[in-house]
Amino acid sequence: MGNSTGEDLGRKTVVFGITGGIAAYKAPLIVRGLTGAGIEVHAVMTDSAREFVTPLTLQTLTGRPVHTDMFSTVLSNAYEVEHIALADRADLFLIAPATANCIAKLAQGIADDLLLCTVLASKAPVLVCPSMNVNMLSNKATQDNLEILRKRGVHILEPAVGELACGWEGAGRLPEPQRIVAEVERLLFQQDLEGVSVLITCGPTCEDIDPVRFITNRSTGRMGSALIEAACLRGARVKVISGPVNIDYAPWAEVVMVRCAHQMFTAVQENLQHADVLIMAAAVADYVPSTYTDAKIKKGDKLSSIALNPSVDILSAIKPMKEDRFFVGFAAETENLADSAKDKMERKGLDMIVANRIGQTGSGFASDTNSGIVLTPEGILDDFEQMDKVTLAHKILDFIRERV
Ligand code: CTP
Repeated sequence: MGNSTGEDLGRKTVVFGITGGIAAYKAPLIVRGLTGAGIEVHAVMTDSAREFVTPLTLQTLTGRPVHTDMFSTVLSNAYEVEHIALADRADLFLIAPATANCIAKLAQGIADDLLLCTVLASKAPVLVCPSMNVNMLSNKATQDNLEILRKRGVHILEPAVGELACGWEGAGRLPEPQRIVAEVERLLFQQDLEGVSVLITCGPTCEDIDPVRFITNRSTGRMGSALIEAACLRGARVKVISGPVNIDYAPWAEVVMVRCAHQMFTAVQENLQHADVLIMAAAVADYVPSTYTDAKIKKGDKLSSIALNPSVDILSAIKPMKEDRFFVGFAAETENLADSAKDKMERKGLDMIVANRIGQTGSGFASDTNSGIVLTPEGILDDFEQMDKVTLAHKILDFIRERV
């Protein structure tokens, strides 16, 4: 994910505490991800952490002295009390890996090293990433300590499941650096969509002809993915109905995978009641094969045509369920952009439509940028040229937020 959020995180500061677990070897990559997203990082290492990774590595990657000792004076102002100065500087406190010992001490408010003193003195949100042997993690003592932290409002990133360095299999792995960086970015983001439920459809649909062939379109799901990530980062509850895509959606979204237009229609109907906003970014097939044959159509069958029926128009069909929900549609147009989009918005009863120019470089399917207009019944809100899809996603959400 990295520096892909559309928000300037450049002025944010993360104090990054590293404790002594084998997963400390991932700390340099976490620093790389954070600094790559424009975040200022101050590393604090426990004595045990320094057995696994050297302060020199983290100093080089953060571009700052690494804090290791309660009684040194590495800050520029030698008269600052180190743990208080660091605690005050943090917009977020990250501890990764967090050992069972560190978690137990955090739960009890013990402050017997620089890292623990600094956390205790900080009013910033804290993100703890536990990493340890599966039995240490499942031990009631550790689970109780994690529960104490959760109740206190500390954010806990669930450990990943897999092969552990100690030879055991199970939960306890430190999640991958990019997952941790994404979680930090989310916690630093302005939560202006908190409490809003957004249902987003994206990707193409595939309409099967036989077990081998199907009809689809050029949609890759990139615009939908940018919207999903942006909405999640801004605190919305996001549910996704996705056609077949080769994309990893943001980890916070609940994703329902479907294949064809009819399945997408059913899934939208089932999930609409919980949504405040519907964004139909999917490229739904307009026509579906009138029959499906279980047996593969052979060359010798001399097929000369494929009979098609119109598919269900999802937006038009769910119009009666709209009530006070905010409906956003997308339109891909090669000509008469504004007129076609306006006509679609009115026909489908939409509150907003985003119309993309397709058939030109830098816009539409499989591109990282889009050109087009954002239209509401009041008129054109924006006319954008080659805007990257992440920035466009945030702009669309800005317009939605002003209206819900
Ligand atoms: N849409 C839908 N159901 C369909 C086709 C499209 O709900 N069967 C939605 C799309 O998700 C999009 C909007 O309608 O938000 C406009 O899609 P588009 O394909 O541009 O419009 P169509 O109505 O299919 O018209 P045309 O293909 O003729 O331009």
